Amino acid sequence: MWTYPDIIAHRGGGILAPENTLAGLQCGLNWGFHAVEFDVMLTKDQIAVLMHDEFLGRTVQGQGKIAEIMAADLFLMDAGAWFDPAFSDCRVPSFLSVMEFCALHGIWMNVEIKPSHGTDMLTGQLIGQLAEEFYGEISHAVAIPPLFSSFSVIALQAARLAAPAIARALLVERIPVDWQKQLEELDAVALHVNHRYLTQELAIAIKQTGIGLCCYTVNSLARADELRSWGVDAFCTDRLDLFAAGFEQ
Ligand code: G3P
Ligand code: MG
Repeated sequence: MWTYPDIIAHRGGGILAPENTLAGLQCGLNWGFHAVEFDVMLTKDQIAVLMHDEFLGRTVQGQGKIAEIMAADLFLMDAGAWFDPAFSDCRVPSFLSVMEFCALHGIWMNVEIKPSHGTDMLTGQLIGQLAEEFYGEISHAVAIPPLFSSFSVIALQAARLAAPAIARALLVERIPVDWQKQLEELDAVALHVNHRYLTQELAIAIKQTGIGLCCYTVNSLARADELRSWGVDAFCTDRLDLFAAGFEQ
């Protein structure tokens, strides 16, 4: 069963702010979103940071891998100018600072564990440990625990070992034939799928098992209505501006 919000801001602020930044999260809040998806990766010194790409060059200028750069150096780099020069003071945030921001503002998190190549187990383990410690503290007990998701089954299994109380979702592009077995092996509460490859037939079959079904990345109201009519529980969107009206009801 899906017990989380049904409309989730993708990568923080969707297309309205630099992805995976605190400015993005603030943008989501400004539009009324209290649910966010973002990507978390490890730096060379194994600091968990918000980052989608394994390589520098798109959102943060430079060359090389995130896994080969020290967090202190990454934190000095501009993560916003690629989006708009007005955001040139944006930095890559640490996962810890984002958990603090979300706890402070009552934002629920879908934490996508995004291991760089060959770091699946360590990434899942360290992100699991950080979340376990953070949510284990009394002061954060009021915050809604996050949901982990990942394309990496290895990372999810490692997160499960490190943080057994934090729920997991299997993230896939297309639904594999053995989806039910994979979900059972992970003791996952949900399946996250690219909506382009979801059919009504599959959606119904998944929902019949009682598992949560979440789609990414849904950027039209008509498609959202169609997916809901198939029983889809939730979706990520880049179009915060389109879906914000739903929060006014
Ligand atoms: O978690 C849903 C979605 O974010 C997965 O794809 O590439 O945007 O991280 P991506
Ligand atoms: Mg993601």
